[in-house]
Amino acid sequence: MTEKLDNIKNAALASVAEASTTAQLAAIRVKYLGKSGEISLIMRDMANVPKEERPALGKLVNEAKGEVETALESKFAALEEEEKSARLKAEAIDITLPVTPANGGLHPLTLVRRQLIDIFAGMGFSVAEGPEIESDLYNFQLLNIPKDHPSRDMQDTFYVNDNFVLRTQTSAMQARIMTKTQPPIRVVIPGKVYRSDDDASHSPIFNQFEGLAVDEHITMGDLQGCLTTFAKKIFSEDTKIRLRPSYFPFTEPSVEVDVTCSMCHGKGCRVCKGTGWVEILGAGIVNPAVLEMCGIDSKKYSGFAFGFGIDRIAMIKYGIPNIKLLYENDMRFLAQFN
Ligand code: DAH
Repeated sequence: MTEKLDNIKNAALASVAEASTTAQLAAIRVKYLGKSGEISLIMRDMANVPKEERPALGKLVNEAKGEVETALESKFAALEEEEKSARLKAEAIDITLPVTPANGGLHPLTLVRRQLIDIFAGMGFSVAEGPEIESDLYNFQLLNIPKDHPSRDMQDTFYVNDNFVLRTQTSAMQARIMTKTQPPIRVVIPGKVYRSDDDASHSPIFNQFEGLAVDEHITMGDLQGCLTTFAKKIFSEDTKIRLRPSYFPFTEPSVEVDVTCSMCHGKGCRVCKGTGWVEILGAGIVNPAVLEMCGIDSKKYSGFAFGFGIDRIAMIKYGIPNIKLLYENDMRFLAQFN
């Protein structure tokens, strides 16, 4: 029995000495010291040993276990150290290598916004921006939408408290500007707006682009000329627009504006549902009541205003089927625009 134990112990120590990885050591531990390991099994043979020899043998078994255990531990420490430095070496980054940066690019909404600003700057408009948390006064009341006005329903809104709301329309900036500036006014306002709206063509956050011109003798003809130029520049030179009567509390008369479909150029296709036209914006002659509320003499001045979704323009222009694509930051989508 003693001899058998000696042989097992020596075999164990020899394999520990030969092991070259911590994984091998783990296997050796199981083979010899595990529950059914060779040294542990010797204890089970104890029954066959004369009673008086058992204590001495037990002691030897424990000593052998201890010896193998110590050998395993010191070899483990050495190998672990070796493996760690090998790993560090393999993972080392040469920070002196020259960098080859992946080319970034502009988001399609940024591209379209910049192009829009460029087009309207060319027609003499300046650019303004405003707060996204807006007071009820500017977002609604000064735009002729008093509390309880039914048109508030169409913009189920995110209220911050009773008097402040995540702005539902960049039109809010019309009121801000008109209360602070006397005509002539020519300004466009790009910015984020928020509504309780969510489907393939609506997102609870989206981008609008507002336009306002107030001066002496402004007419619907000025509006039509301005929007025709805009439509030709943003889509294509052969684009036509048409004005349809509509209603907005802050314009009188109000119109909705369609452009000939930029996919089929008016022939009729899937995008324009066969009509050849797509609706892109709301506009009109600034309601004299709005001018007066904002402190502008409606006898002397008149104005036109318009507003549209930058997202919608981008979707039509690039044939983007779902507005969510504009907000997911998927590189496979974004990389197509640069
Ligand atoms: N604010 C309107 C909307 O969000 C769009 C709009 C319509 C803006 C007519 C205007 C306008 O300035 O005159 O639906």
